[in-house]
Amino acid sequence: MFQAKDTVLQTDNEEWVSEPHEVEELPLPPDFFWGAATAAYQIEGGASQDGKGKSIWDTFSHLEPSRTNGENGDVACDHYNRMSEDVDLMASYGVDVYRLSIAWSRVIPLGGRNDPVNEDGISFYNRLIDCLLARNIEPIITLYHWDAPQELYNRYGAFLNTAEFKADFEQFARLCFSRFGDRVKKWVTYNEPYIISIFGHHSGVLAPGHSAATGHDTRTEPWRVGHTIVISHAAVVKIYATEFQPVQNGSITIVLNGHFYEPWDANSEEHKSAAQRRLEFYIGWFADPVFLGKDYPSQMRARLGPRLPEFSTEEMRLLRETAPINAYYGMNHYSTKFARALSDPPAEDDCTGNVEEVATNNEGKMLGPVSGMSWLRVAPDGFRKLLNWVWDRYHLPIVITENGCPCPGESQMTLEESVNDTFRIRYFGLYLDAISRAIYEDGIIVQGYCAWSFMDNFEWSAGYGARYGITHVEYDTLVRTPKKSAYYLKQSFNERRKKR
Ligand code: NOJ
Repeated sequence: MFQAKDTVLQTDNEEWVSEPHEVEELPLPPDFFWGAATAAYQIEGGASQDGKGKSIWDTFSHLEPSRTNGENGDVACDHYNRMSEDVDLMASYGVDVYRLSIAWSRVIPLGGRNDPVNEDGISFYNRLIDCLLARNIEPIITLYHWDAPQELYNRYGAFLNTAEFKADFEQFARLCFSRFGDRVKKWVTYNEPYIISIFGHHSGVLAPGHSAATGHDTRTEPWRVGHTIVISHAAVVKIYATEFQPVQNGSITIVLNGHFYEPWDANSEEHKSAAQRRLEFYIGWFADPVFLGKDYPSQMRARLGPRLPEFSTEEMRLLRETAPINAYYGMNHYSTKFARALSDPPAEDDCTGNVEEVATNNEGKMLGPVSGMSWLRVAPDGFRKLLNWVWDRYHLPIVITENGCPCPGESQMTLEESVNDTFRIRYFGLYLDAISRAIYEDGIIVQGYCAWSFMDNFEWSAGYGARYGITHVEYDTLVRTPKKSAYYLKQSFNERRKKR
């Protein structure tokens, strides 16, 4: 496995950005594809337009607006009404792919398998898909990017009832495959199951906001939610493979997020194994059953005991059968952290394997420069190490389904300052170099890359207070303006793909 000499940089941000540009613009394969990503709730708006039902994000952001910076996705970027302008803009960036998600409650307002379909919602996605294809942009469609129909929580607790949720998700997936699958060839079931489970059902900072403070059982809920995701993913993969793939010829997989973890003390076995354990609790939790058709990582079994659901014989069979069908490992990756083993006994609802995530190591050093989000530091070596970790453990092609950052202070910037996004350009350049090294020096197959995000949008608990876009959005007027990074990516991918 690749070992960087020193991934720990202590850098003054301003100096880092104003220094001469050190990105080497290393090559990428000629058939490497690139594009940008978004998610329905974050950009669409049109929250109740044309028969759309309520999602848990409508509820979460309206009930207690302080949880989302006082903001919500009612209008967002109004992509629902400006879709073709947006597709024109992405075409001008030269993207090969566009990763988007379908708002379940737009196509089945109540969400359930016996509930009516909203033809206006179907027609929106049909127009969007056709618009993309007319401009030679391939859609990558995520079925679930966090916006469950509210009614499914009201009826039976959504993810907390595996059998019911699986049946409803299967029907939603079937509807999408049958109505869009003649043209959509790249499907993703879930975006970031870790976040759905832990942030939604443990810390409660994201919808539906379950936490110990709201009286939910955080000892077991996240693991039950994770279990439902794993099983319903596999069930939908099987449906796609048996009922649709033979005619439609597309592919399907899941998208997992995860930081890379460096040990807090690089010379200590205890902290080294804590870093490994943290990766297993974060990524292996989903990737081992989904991609290897195996039980959850043994460290999770050992530490969580009966809190972690068991797979039945039938579920295990389904996992083994569907594991090889997943087309690639969809990776959302942003940053690296230090992992420190805790010596006190774990909290009764511990979900980390008793590991603390910290920003500085035992010598007080920090990982690279900090972006506009305090947790997001520029650490391309960690990215390369994570690509190696995933490749060594799962050995399947990787597609980077999200990567990017807000510039420091960007949410307070004027339009002129924000579009001049040198920090982001440098971040992208270094992360693309890391991919090149992973491909050509480490022998890993990486097939494509999606920048997060096509445009500034509703960043969940941060509301509109974090700008990740390669396109600036003025929220008062909804005017879009390309940032320099959009043209950087266009030119950089063109150059890199010509180099070898
Ligand atoms: C991951 C999520 O998929 C996306 O919705 C979010 O906006 C970005 N990361 C940035 O936090």
